Amino acid sequence: MDTRIIALANQKGGCGKTTTAVSLAAGFACQGYSASIIDLDPQCNATDGFGVDRDELTRAGRFTTADIFLGKKPASEIEVGFPNRFAGELGLVPGHRGLTSVPHRLESSLQAQLANDDSSELDADDLKNEHRERLKHSLNSLRGHRDVVFIDTPPDLGFLMTTALIAADYFIIPVFPSGYDLKGLETLMRTIEKVQRRFNPNLRLLGVLLGNYDTTAKLDSDIHKMLSRKFGAELIFDVKISRSVKHREATVYSRTIFEHAPEQQPSAQFLALVNEVQRRLNGITSSETPVTQAAGRA
Ligand SMILES: Nc1ncnc2c1ncn2[C@@H]1O[C@H](COP(=O)(O)OP(=O)(O)OP(=O)(O)O)[C@@H](O)[C@H]1O
Ligand SMILES: [Mg+2]
Repeated sequence: MDTRIIALANQKGGCGKTTTAVSLAAGFACQGYSASIIDLDPQCNATDGFGVDRDELTRAGRFTTADIFLGKKPASEIEVGFPNRFAGELGLVPGHRGLTSVPHRLESSLQAQLANDDSSELDADDLKNEHRERLKHSLNSLRGHRDVVFIDTPPDLGFLMTTALIAADYFIIPVFPSGYDLKGLETLMRTIEKVQRRFNPNLRLLGVLLGNYDTTAKLDSDIHKMLSRKFGAELIFDVKISRSVKHREATVYSRTIFEHAPEQQPSAQFLALVNEVQRRLNGITSSETPVTQAAGRA
């Protein structure tokens, strides 16, 4: 099984990262694929989106994504399943509000290590990079077991987002026309280039997704055109997710769109997006993967 890891990336708040990650992961599972979702946001909206009680998990002694960084736990040991939902094909690696303090705690442990050892400035670099690659190593435990893994990220370009981009094979940029921010997208792409250069040369843009889209608004179609010019029309997903109160309701009621509005347009659009994502993943042949990376993945 050739597992594909896909991060949702856009540092802008409220542009559809969580809605897309949750709906694609659930949609892939409903279509018979084996899927997993990693909640890397201290807000834990993806975890809440499945109606999972985080406090209950913590009380039961379960691990969360914070343990990936602080305890080097493999994601496969953290995943919780939903035996009676999503055809039993979905795993969730739940988030924790303590993710906020992870960068600080890692930095403190780094300083302590440097103080104790006979170490140099360059050792600090190595330690920092090892921290940045903890998510990647943890997610390797899902390779060969899941078809697709989606990473939901927080709305900033800090440590957690960086680790997601280092761990991922692909990224999707969700954009709400109402919150279009060209400068922000340019900063994002500069960050991506740095990650590609320094850590993950194979990271690729799978597509830009227009969500909260109003087909009747000229502004929305203008922004579609601007994005096509910036990224190339072929990198904008054909499927657009229309503005619908059903998505906000699903968020509030902690259900996925497939459970909240089955067989309605919002669900149908996300299922169409699952097909388009699948087609794009299939269209990228393994022969395009550089040999060194393919060997590393085996
Ligand atoms: N197509 C849509 N139509 C209407 N509302 C939507 C649509 N998609 C998402 N929303 C709503 O917009 C809000 C923001 O979406 P979401 O939480 O997915 O964004 P986000 O990028 O993850 O936000 P954050 O940066 O805070 O993590 C949510 O209340 C969600 O229910
Ligand atoms: Mg979110």
